[in-house]
Amino acid sequence: ARTLILDLDTGIDDSLAIAYAIGSPEANFVAITGTYGNVDVDQGVRNSLAVTELLGRDDIDVVAGVPHALERDGFDVLEISQFIHGRNGIGDVEIPDATRGACAGDGVDYLIAAVERFGHDLVYVPTGPLTTLAEALRRKPEIAGSIGRVVLMGGALTVPGNVNAWTEANIGQDPDAANEVFRSGIPLTMIGLDVTLQTLLTYEHTRVWRDLDTAAGRFLADMTDYYIRAYETTSPHLGGCGLHDPLAVAVALDPSLVTTLPLHMSVDVTGPTRGRTIGNPEKIGAPHPTCEVAVGVDVERFLDMFMTRISAVAAG
Ligand code: BDR
Ligand code: CA
Repeated sequence: ARTLILDLDTGIDDSLAIAYAIGSPEANFVAITGTYGNVDVDQGVRNSLAVTELLGRDDIDVVAGVPHALERDGFDVLEISQFIHGRNGIGDVEIPDATRGACAGDGVDYLIAAVERFGHDLVYVPTGPLTTLAEALRRKPEIAGSIGRVVLMGGALTVPGNVNAWTEANIGQDPDAANEVFRSGIPLTMIGLDVTLQTLLTYEHTRVWRDLDTAAGRFLADMTDYYIRAYETTSPHLGGCGLHDPLAVAVALDPSLVTTLPLHMSVDVTGPTRGRTIGNPEKIGAPHPTCEVAVGVDVERFLDMFMTRISAVAAG
């Protein structure tokens, strides 16, 4: 089994990423580090605890990471996030608070210790700003050589951003952290808007979970319907909501779901395009690319896997 740690700003698609990981029998899903973004770090941690418990996995460690951007000039929580994910991050659906608390200590040290413990078996999946991973690389640069892989949700190479024309939300919330990660030499796969906006969910899908008539099924359906409604307002042309974060988890477990381009990637940290993810055109085909950037996805196979796994979790 591959050991999996997710790094979440637990909003709606992050919660679906949790459900996907729980529904993946081949994953040894051990922990969630908490970041900020869709909600602040405390709310994100609360959501991760509550969602894992509701889905029957209160053995998964949850630990808070860095609560704000490295340079602190970023936006900790975007105003639009409250519209897309609800004020509580999970579509304003009420579920019981977890009966347990978060682990003591901080997510940065937790991650460093996990790399030491699990080594190349560990895949880390950040689906929010990259601050906690960047801070871990600052504290212990050697982890870049001893972790299995980082599969991150963020950025956009061949399509526009979703915060503005050139910036995707997770990267835009801490461009400095993202740039440090891209340049660190850590084995990296980027699951950006290029592929995540091809994998869309509709009310027809969520109805399957609601019809199971379980607490987990109702929660997953109601929460995701909130997200679909938000997408109807912000991106009506898509015809569904983007499965950003669960796609990153799926690729972490099965890289063959996407086709990738090996590129020397970085993030613009100065100038008007701050937050843009960009490949170095002079280094195309050069050795030691910094990142495998997903540019194609097997939509049908992923959606099948997604529905099978989430439905199994929803059934309880
Ligand atoms: C990303 O931003 C967040 O709103 C989502 O959870 C996802 O990780 C998409 O740009
Ligand atoms: Ca996210």
